[in-house]
Amino acid sequence: MSKQMSHLDDIPSTPGKFKMEKSPFVHNRLRWHSSLAKLTFWSCIFLGLILIFFFRSPSSNPLPQDPSRRSLRTYNWGGPAWEKRVRSSARVRSHNGISVLVTGAAGFVGTHVSAALKRRGDGVLGLDNFNDYYDPSLKRARQALLERSGVFIVEGDINDSALLRKLFEVVAFTHVMHLAAQAGVRYAMENPGSYVHSNIAGLVSLLEVCKSANPQPAIVWASSSSVYGLNTKVPFSEKDRTDQPASLYAATKKAGEEIAHTYNHIYGLSLTGLRFFTVYGPWGRPDMAYFFFTRDILKGKSIPIFEAANHGTVARDFTYIDDIVKGCLAALDTAEKSTGSGGKKKGPAQLRVYNLGNTSPVPVSDLVSILERLLKVNAKRDIMKLPRNGDVQFTHANISLAQRELGYKPSTDLQTGLKKFVRWYLSYYNGGKKAAG
Ligand SMILES: NC(=O)c1ccc[n+]([C@@H]2O[C@H](COP(=O)([O-])OP(=O)(O)OC[C@H]3O[C@@H](n4cnc5c(N)ncnc54)[C@H](O)[C@@H]3O)[C@@H](O)[C@H]2O)c1
Ligand SMILES: *[C@@H]1O[C@H](CO)[C@@H](O)[C@H](O)[C@H]1NC(C)=O
Ligand SMILES: *[C@@H]1O[C@H](CO)[C@@H](O)[C@H](O)[C@H]1NC(C)=O
Repeated sequence: MSKQMSHLDDIPSTPGKFKMEKSPFVHNRLRWHSSLAKLTFWSCIFLGLILIFFFRSPSSNPLPQDPSRRSLRTYNWGGPAWEKRVRSSARVRSHNGISVLVTGAAGFVGTHVSAALKRRGDGVLGLDNFNDYYDPSLKRARQALLERSGVFIVEGDINDSALLRKLFEVVAFTHVMHLAAQAGVRYAMENPGSYVHSNIAGLVSLLEVCKSANPQPAIVWASSSSVYGLNTKVPFSEKDRTDQPASLYAATKKAGEEIAHTYNHIYGLSLTGLRFFTVYGPWGRPDMAYFFFTRDILKGKSIPIFEAANHGTVARDFTYIDDIVKGCLAALDTAEKSTGSGGKKKGPAQLRVYNLGNTSPVPVSDLVSILERLLKVNAKRDIMKLPRNGDVQFTHANISLAQRELGYKPSTDLQTGLKKFVRWYLSYYNGGKKAAG
């Protein structure tokens, strides 16, 4: 387009050449020439408008049922101004700081981890595709929060290897904190493709670029307690079996752990997987029970409380976000360097997996009672049988390994953590003049 425009610009700059000639034929040709130029000019404008409309219109995704529809979008990245923002965000400001690429930075955990790294002087660059699995305006609000502390979030997909290569070209990241994923257990039956896209293809695309980067970064990434699947032995320890996942989500996280093993083995990438146990807190995820229970209790809507067979208790090892952030930072700080270079392994590299939980499972009915007290509203409880579509009855972390090797020591109980969540919730949804819900 710009080439054509400069061609059009050339025409008025050489009129003298034509004026020299007097023949009517030439005159006609000149008129024909200039009307062709006009036609070309207006065609270009028209085409340009169509293109602008096409790329900005959200309805440019013609297949709403496509499993990876949320990633078919075209993102704008590149250019000197963009590179400058990338560099400045990733610049290390403290003496022994690290420079970290945080994927999923507009997500719940990603926002908190990015802010914590930035606070202590590390270089942080975010990457997120802002998909609409849950309300994207919450992701935008988190982005604005990070923006104020100097963290830039690049808008793009982890399955876009060209973008990832570009990022590593601009910044020599020492670490990657990989949190981008398709989360949620029940949604996997609705949109299985999104799990394959982000948790499998996206992970492989990220590791491919990391293994070729010079120097290779050390990678810390989020697995999940869901890999323990149908296990009944509690508490869950890292050595327990993880080969009976109860959901596609769990299966993709388990696959991620195996893929991590491969990249560690073949290319010498330093890899640490963190199995998070039900993380909650301010800026949390609207698809999780504590979040939508709060919304529905305030609305006077009844909330479903699951019960296992024979009135068995459903319980979760709820873990407060600040404790998870400490675990993530400790994993980054204790990560050894990757050993490969030029895409080749030079020696054995670190491969770790840790549980990050709270070690005290709480029945979901207790969670509701705490929320009732904090919100000063009685909940309408709708007791239901736990469906067999992904949720497990019980999670309980054995965290002695993380305690020993990362110094991980969760310190927030559910009562205290929920109090902070509710305070945030009320100020975010009511303080901002938005209706609760
Ligand atoms: N919150 C929990 O309780 C919990 C428990 C276990 C594991 N995890 C894992 O922790 C990580 C963070 O979870 P969260 O609770 O912050 O979830 P989240 O959904 O809030 O954050 C994930 C972010 O990644 C982005 N994303 C998804 N696919 C992407 C892609 N292909 N390219 C670029 N960006 C993409 C999303 O837009 C989102 O902002 C995830 O890997 C999740 O599976 C979370
Ligand atoms: C991921 O990206 C590759 C191209 O880099 C593409 O061929 C593939 O279809 C994508 N996979 C998914 C699941 O989106
Ligand atoms: C917790 O895991 C450690 C190994 O990391 C093990 O030695 C210990 O026995 C486990 N504790 C329980 C209560 O299962």
